[in-house]
Amino acid sequence: MATIGILGVGGLAGLMLRGLQGSGHRFILSPRGAEAAGRLAAEFGCIVAESNQAVVDGADAVFVSLPAGSGAEELSRLTFRAGQPVLSAMAGTGLARLAEVIGPAKGAIGMMPGYANAYRMGPSLLYPKDLFWQDFLSHVGPVHMFDDEAEYTVAATFGAFSGATVAFMAHVIGWFEAQGLRPEVARALVAGTLRGNAEVLLREPRPLAEIAKGVTTPGGITLQLLDILNGHGALTAWDEGLDAVLTRISQR
Ligand SMILES: NC(=O)c1ccc[n+]([C@@H]2O[C@H](COP(=O)([O-])OP(=O)(O)OC[C@H]3O[C@@H](n4cnc5c(N)ncnc54)[C@H](OP(=O)(O)O)[C@@H]3O)[C@@H](O)[C@H]2O)c1
Repeated sequence: MATIGILGVGGLAGLMLRGLQGSGHRFILSPRGAEAAGRLAAEFGCIVAESNQAVVDGADAVFVSLPAGSGAEELSRLTFRAGQPVLSAMAGTGLARLAEVIGPAKGAIGMMPGYANAYRMGPSLLYPKDLFWQDFLSHVGPVHMFDDEAEYTVAATFGAFSGATVAFMAHVIGWFEAQGLRPEVARALVAGTLRGNAEVLLREPRPLAEIAKGVTTPGGITLQLLDILNGHGALTAWDEGLDAVLTRISQR
């Protein structure tokens, strides 16, 4: 059973710990935000270390969920063992920067949606291929591994897409509620529709274009909605937003 050190005990760490229950790992948490760390430690049976260095020293492998802006600098102040596996989930920190700050340890970078991982349904990205972290992440959802960092970075844009889909669902749920639908029905209907259609894309072997055509009756209500959305650039606006996120996460 491996002991995983977690540096940065905030939102993502809490969600990952929830999803990782029963995975067989032990966890040792960084002490900053003692109240949150203590609560998570009590809930999930983890140890809270006395310092970030004590996390590294006491762990077989280290999961980094420090703030994206300052986390790499904090890592540079710590001493890692040669070959110690370190997985950074910090958006925008590339493998070269990670390697620079963890010295002789063995770095990998990952991206995951967070909340869905608590329910073990969130896809994770991993670069480069690494069997230890593949096994770790597989407890919280499907794992996609990459040989090429440029391709990984394109895929990592999904971190923003994931959160934006929640905002999109909340918006549409709000519309149904405003028309008088009971909130619990609106929420179940919108979320269930996306889940159902997502399953279709995951299970159907038919090409995407064929599936899309199959759900769009000529002259029907789907086409009516799509025409209005397209008239406002609502779908192409996703490209603009994703381009901006990709540019941002490609810079560090
Ligand atoms: N949230 C997600 O679902 C998600 C998904 C994928 C990737 N990520 C990545 O995961 C990282 C964390 O995101 P988050 O949403 O979990 O942020 P968060 O809730 O702000 O958690 C970060 C935690 O790190 C702590 N921290 C700051 N400096 C520290 C230090 N020097 N030593 C130890 N702990 C320190 C913060 O404490 P204070 O509050 O006291 O500053 C906070 O508790 C980010 O880099 C983000 O890009 C997040």
